[in-house]
Order: sequence, then C-alpha cells, then structure tokens
Amino acid sequence: MIEVSREGAYALLFWNMPKVNVLNAESIRAFAEALEGVLTDSQIRGVVIGSKKREFLAGADLETIQELAEASDPHYIFEASWQLQSVFLRVETGGKPVVAAIGGSALGGGYELALACHHRIALNEPRIEIGLPETTLGLMPGAGGTQRLPRKIGLMTSLELILEGRRLSPSEALQKGLIEELVDSSQDLIEKGLAWLHTHSSASNPWHQKEFRLPGPSVQSEMGRNIFAAAIARLRERSYGHYPGLQYALSAVYEGIQVPIVEGLKIESEYFAKTLSTPTARAMVRTLFVERQRLLNLPHRPKDTPPASFRKVAILGAGMMGRAIGYVCATAGYDTWIKDTDMGALKYAETFAFSLIDKAVKRNRLSPSEAESIRQRLHYTADYSDLAGSDLVIEAVFENRAVKSQVYQEVRPYLSSSGILASNTSTLPITSLAESAGLAERFIGMHFFSPAERMPLLEIILGRETAPQTLAWALDFAKQIGKVPIVVRDGRGFFTSRVFGTYVREGLRMLKEGIPPALIENLGHQAGMPVGPLALADEVSISLMYSILRQTEEDLGIRLTDDPVSDIGRLFVEELGRIGRKVGKGFYEYPAEGGKKYLWPELSRYFPSRSVAPTEYEDLKDRFLYVQVAEAFRAYQEGILLDKRDGDVASILGWGFAPFTGGVFHFVEWVGEKKFYTRAQYLSEKYGERFLIVE
Ligand code: NAI
Repeated sequence: MIEVSREGAYALLFWNMPKVNVLNAESIRAFAEALEGVLTDSQIRGVVIGSKKREFLAGADLETIQELAEASDPHYIFEASWQLQSVFLRVETGGKPVVAAIGGSALGGGYELALACHHRIALNEPRIEIGLPETTLGLMPGAGGTQRLPRKIGLMTSLELILEGRRLSPSEALQKGLIEELVDSSQDLIEKGLAWLHTHSSASNPWHQKEFRLPGPSVQSEMGRNIFAAAIARLRERSYGHYPGLQYALSAVYEGIQVPIVEGLKIESEYFAKTLSTPTARAMVRTLFVERQRLLNLPHRPKDTPPASFRKVAILGAGMMGRAIGYVCATAGYDTWIKDTDMGALKYAETFAFSLIDKAVKRNRLSPSEAESIRQRLHYTADYSDLAGSDLVIEAVFENRAVKSQVYQEVRPYLSSSGILASNTSTLPITSLAESAGLAERFIGMHFFSPAERMPLLEIILGRETAPQTLAWALDFAKQIGKVPIVVRDGRGFFTSRVFGTYVREGLRMLKEGIPPALIENLGHQAGMPVGPLALADEVSISLMYSILRQTEEDLGIRLTDDPVSDIGRLFVEELGRIGRKVGKGFYEYPAEGGKKYLWPELSRYFPSRSVAPTEYEDLKDRFLYVQVAEAFRAYQEGILLDKRDGDVASILGWGFAPFTGGVFHFVEWVGEKKFYTRAQYLSEKYGERFLIVE
C-alpha cells in the first residue's frame, strides 16, 4: 500500500494501493506506520512522498465518506478527521524535511497531505488536477485545507478556491502559489525532490513559528473584514443558505486563522464533523458520490455482450448540439465526421470546436500534441459518402419527424454492418423514430444536454425493439466519452425533459396568476434551482416548447388547454415573435454586444402583477420543487425510469434540481417522509392535481 525505499540518506514513500490511491482507515494506518518508520530512522535525513499510480492521492474514498455521513455522529466524525490531521501534523512537525512529488491529481485530502509537506513539486501535465473541491460535493476540507491554504497564499485567493472548489492544472496551481515547482518528467520529479532535500535541512512550515504573519491582509484588518463580507455576500447569492458545508468552511477559515495552527486544525475538524452530520451532506454524498459511481459502472449494461469496438462516429447536424457532440467524440479518441447540408453551419461548427481546443491548450488542459490529434480526428462534410463505415451515427438535425426520417434513410447505406443509429431528440418517442429508420434493433436514443461539451449526463432511451447489444454498446460509448449514463424506457419527453418541463410550466402558471416576474425568478433560485423558470424557457426556446405541445396535441388528437404553454406559447410565438434567447427576445431582453439580460418590461402589460404577501413565498418555492417530484413519481410509476436512484443522479446532473436535496426522489427523505406527504397533499388540494404523488 505504501512502498518505502532508500535513496542515499533519503527515504521515498510511494502510495501504491491496488486500484486507486485513496484515504481510508487502512491506508491512513499504513501511511502513518511507514512515516513513523522513516522519521525514527536516524540514518534518514529527509523524505519524498510520491505515488506509483496515475493519481498522487485522490482524497477520502467513497465508503469512508459514506460511512461517516451515515453515522451522522459529530463526535465520531471529529475523531476520524482528527486522526488524519494528527498524521499530517506528524508529516509537518516530525523533524525531517518532506517533499510532495505530485505526479498525478492531488485533490481534497490528497492535496491536504501535500500542504502539510514542506515543499511541493508537480509534474506539468494537463490531466493533473490540484485543489480542494469538497464544497462542490456538499462537504468541506477536513484535513487541514482551510487552515494551511490561507496561511500559505492569503485569505483572498484561498477563500475563492475553497468556496468555489476549483480544480487547477499544475501550471495554474504554481501561479496561485499552491505548489512551488513544476517539472516535465516523472524522473525529474523525484530528482528535483531529492535535490531540494539536499539543500534544505530545515523541516518547518512558517505557520508553526511564533512570529508567523498571514500573507496579505489579516482577518481583523479592514481589508480582511471586507474580504469576508464579500465572501459571505457571494455565498448567499449563490447558495441561499442551502449548503451548510460552504458556511462551515468559511467559519473554519475565519475562526481558525486567528488562533495557532493546531487549534485552527481542531476548529476545522469540528466544522467538518458538523458538515458531515447534516442531511444535506448525507444526501449529496449518496447521490453525487455513491449513485453517480454506480452509474459509471454501467449497472444496466446487458451482460455477455462483447465490448463496443467503435472507431468511426458520424454526427448528422452541425447545429448547437451536433457541433458540441462532435467535439466530445473527437476528444474521446473517435474518428469523427460531422455532416450538415448547410455549409455555414459546418464552418461555424469547426470554428467552435477549434476554439474550445485552443482554450484547453491555453489553460494547460491539453498538450499541443493532444490538441493536434483531436483536430486531426475532426472532419466536417456535406457529403454522405464520407460517412461510409461509421460504427455509430448520432442524429442531431432539426426536431422534426419528417427531416429526421429522411436523414435516416439517407445515412443507412453508410452505416457499418453492425453499426448503430442514435437520435439526440429531446422529446420525440424513440420507437416511432426507429420505425421510420427501418432499423428497430440497432436504433436507440442518446439524449445529450446543452452545452454538450460540459454537461455530464447522457440519457439513453430504449425503443420497444432496441436490441440488448445496441444498449450495451451505447453504454460503452457513454463511458468512453466520459458521460454518466442513465437508461430509460420510451415515452414522451422520456424522463428528464418531462420532469424539468414541469418546473418551467409552474413558472408560466405563476405568471398567469399575477406573480411579478422578478419574484418568480428569484423564488426559483431560492428554491434551489440554478436558473429561474422564465430564463430557462428562453434558453430552451418558447417556440420549441410550443411546437412540442402542438406535436403532442396532434399525435394524441386532443387539445391541451390546461397547459400554460398553450396560450403563452401562442402569444409569444405567433403574436409577439419573442421566441427566446436565440433571437434576442423572449421573457427577457438580450441587449446586443453582450449586455446583461433583463426581464422584458412589457410583461406587466400582458400579465398584470398582483401584490404577494411574504407568507406566500413558501408555497411558491415548494410548488417549484414538488411539481417536479410529483412528475418524477409518475414517470417511475409508468415504468419510464428503471431505478429511482438513477432519477436522483439525472435530476442533479441533467438540470440542476436542488442538489442539496440529493435529487428528485431523495427529496422525500431529505424533507422527511411525513412532512413531505402532508405538504404534497396540501399543495394538491390548494393548487391542483399535478402535485398528487402517485406510488
Ligand atoms: P439546431 O437547429 O441548432 O441544429 C440543427 C442542425 O441540423 C442545423 O445545422 C441544420 O442545418 C442541420 N440539418 C437540418 N437538416 C439536415 C439534414 N437533412 N442533413 C444534415 N443536417 C441537417 O438544433 P439543435 O438545438 O442542435 O437540436 C438538434 C437536435 O438535438 C434536436 O432533435 C433537438 O431536439 C435535440 N436537442 C436539443 C437540445 C438543446 O438544448 N437545443 C438538447 C438536447 C437535444
């Protein structure tokens, strides 16, 4: 687990766990023992800590975090945190200089170990990430991060890094002072480490010295107070108090930095224990660690199917989705061909992908040679014959049945003999598309989210006749491109579009009820959604929602007059031409030249506002969340979703459903079952059946 070797008067301690280097009870014990061995060996004058694995040290492992969160006993969590702090303190104060040789990612506890060392050298490779991302997962650093980082680089930058949980490339980490040196090869890493030990016999970090002063402004200076005031304001604005981990991390910095380091570390462990015993941390750990990881292991992949061996991927449509999906495929190593009929769209798609690649190089996320290989793998064409032999075709043309079925017929001759055809449709039932393609067994839905180069979720939709092999290969592909896949059965809007659509509709209903638009948007944020419902309608485009409604009415042969998209859609699309952000006008105005968007002032003419008493706010906020939960239950009931836990992950990764609740199903537990059902009953009696929970 920890390999110890000698290099002259120095010891090398390498993390080498069977799979991934992580912190758990066993590895912490093994590390502490190895450390003690070298610290008490009088022949040894210094230590280099490194790794034999791809990562330096990835932080606490899943089971450990889950076990602590489930225990929900602050005393027990404090002890676990303090035990690790003591080992890291021993690294720092054991009397021998210690260098961290960071040859792979050092995140969370992994970077906290490096922080306790006396010098940090990292390999300059873009794949390596360094930082303290705990707060993004509902947690906070608990092994010295909130104490050593501010003492090392000052309040301003450390607060920013801790509260935003940013992961830095080695060169960014150097620039911000998180590490001291960069090297270009693994060999240099150890040599530089040994060379540093040669010239440094002292083994003390400055914060252990009496005369230590914080770099930059102190907490109690006017500037320090301003930094905290600004951090608190940013926190409120971003989290509305939903994330205790953020507040506790801030408190740990504020209180801990004013006392000697060891006391500061104790304060941190106390706040860490408080954070982990909240329902929010439990919910987020469960969904974002445990369940997300479960999905990455492809639980719904049919067994006994050989792995996919895709080489060439074709994307039909170089629009907003197609161009981004193409970039994702080329980055994952596929020979990628993007086909459109519109030369302008193709040109723009190429510019789009190349500028993403350039940006990644600039940020040191890609090396110039990796960037060049990705560019080589990207091809833009208007000619079907270039697609010959494609193993996978992903269709992302207009959301229109006729156009889609025509391209399926056109592309079929160019699909390899066992190739599969996927549609990125966001709403059209897959079974009917599969029929029009005449390829029912080799047809599947692959619903990406916009912006596809960033959004981590992929919703895979089974048509009635989709073959197990097609599903297996679609899942292998999802894994290869680094997306988290969920598998759902066919149905209008599948799972994700169907559920998040109810959030937008609830906002539209409120508009009709006379709730002031700015209040609707603010309450959406306060409920925990990342975007207000009206802004979201503009993003999705009101015309798309309206045409989906019309298509549904046509398919079902009924009028959906109760749907607020029906009359608001008619007004905005047919009368006002305000179809959404893509034309610069919808519920918002989008000033040219990147000015900040603002709510369209004329909204009040069409939807006169009434006054709303603050006592109504709770109902309004709950309506936003409960309406989605009720729809999710309905989708599950109808068999669209295979597993509720998949729905939790999808709701957070797909459309940002209040992450602190653990997702759209876990919401029930987060609220408390009894309270949840009482509240749902109340909302359904007062506002309508859409809040009824069906089980
Ligand atoms: P878009 O309008 O930006 O792009 C569609 C592209 O298809 C255009 O470049 C057009 O020239 C091209 N095209 C049309 N007919 C073609 C043909 N016969 N052969 C080749 N190319 C053709 O649309 P967008 O937003 O990229 O949507 C594409 C698909 O992705 C739709 O099915 C949509 O429902 C789905 N989708 C959209 C999302 C979004 O947020 N916009 C999210 C998830 C899925």
